[in-house]
Amino acid sequence: MDLTTTYMGLKLKNPLVVAAGPLSQDIGRIRQMEDCGASAVVLWSLFEEQIEHEAAELDYYLQHGSERFAESLSYFPAAGEYRAGPDEYLEHIRQAKKAVGIPVIGSLNGVSARGWASYASLMQQAGADAIELNVYYIPTDPNLPSEHVEKVYTWVYQTVKEGVSIPAAIKLSPFFSSTANMLLRLDRAGVDGMVLFNRFYQPDIDIEELQVTPNLQLSTPFEGRLALRWIAIMFGKIKASLAATTGIYSPQDVVKTLLAGADVTMLCSTLLENGISHLTTLTKGLAEYLERKGYESVGAIKGILSQKNCPEPSAFERANYMKALTGRGMTEKLV
Ligand SMILES: Cc1cc2nc3c(=O)[nH]c(=O)nc-3n(C[C@H](O)[C@H](O)[C@H](O)COP(=O)(O)O)c2cc1C
Repeated sequence: MDLTTTYMGLKLKNPLVVAAGPLSQDIGRIRQMEDCGASAVVLWSLFEEQIEHEAAELDYYLQHGSERFAESLSYFPAAGEYRAGPDEYLEHIRQAKKAVGIPVIGSLNGVSARGWASYASLMQQAGADAIELNVYYIPTDPNLPSEHVEKVYTWVYQTVKEGVSIPAAIKLSPFFSSTANMLLRLDRAGVDGMVLFNRFYQPDIDIEELQVTPNLQLSTPFEGRLALRWIAIMFGKIKASLAATTGIYSPQDVVKTLLAGADVTMLCSTLLENGISHLTTLTKGLAEYLERKGYESVGAIKGILSQKNCPEPSAFERANYMKALTGRGMTEKLV
């Protein structure tokens, strides 16, 4: 069975890539990822704030707080530990490259295009096979027009890309007034890969202490539907590679992203919850699906249920909304 795929020009043995997250902080765990079948690993992010030595905190992003996944919390490092400085980060890339044969993708997380962007080239020098740029941008100023927000993405990407010759992906927010147009414009700006989508960590409110509390919940499989739709819509309309992230837990979830048109799936929460060895189950499950359905390769199913190719393209649009509302089962629930 041919499970290979190509992501931003990188030939990968299968579409199972470990998403940026805390598990990649440990070289032993990166080795285990490779042993269990991961085809590439995106390292956790080097944050702009670390490089700029600003006081601004991103602790909300890293705080624990999931009661549902109490066991997985032991994986989460304390915020201070998680944020290794730039030198340690570059050294980590070197060590990871020595330890494994799969591609190692360095991750930069920021919203400006100042000095920190040059770290992409240092990551390349340290051996990174590609860069993932996470534009974790929450524009809260009501006076900021959407046009400006959109320009930030292309501007930051191009600044990073100028300094490197390796491929670079951009990890994006789903919150654009015209998502398809934004993705198209990024494609025209030369983006090699798009990671759909960034999952923003939402603060909660503690009604007893009257405080806003940072809180990180792992994703649920249902959340994967957002990326599924937009990957299906964009498949065949852009040149950039497409990576699906969020809510991919089971072999079935992996298959769905490929049918929609993803080149790779990126996994974080499921590995925190089920352990790194779950990669073996996912790889096996994917191969079994292809075999059962009579497909010889991952390539054969890529995009066959994208909007372009599926029998009912309106399924991804408004037309399907009425159908879903009045569909079987819904009215029974109402009575
Ligand atoms: C504890 C934790 C740490 C994360 N750290 C990063 C990070 O450093 N950089 C990044 O781009 N994404 C980070 N993410 C986001 C993941 O890469 C992924 O996109 C997101 O969790 C959705 O995928 P999932 O549903 O498989 O978890 C983190 C997620 C979690 C749960």
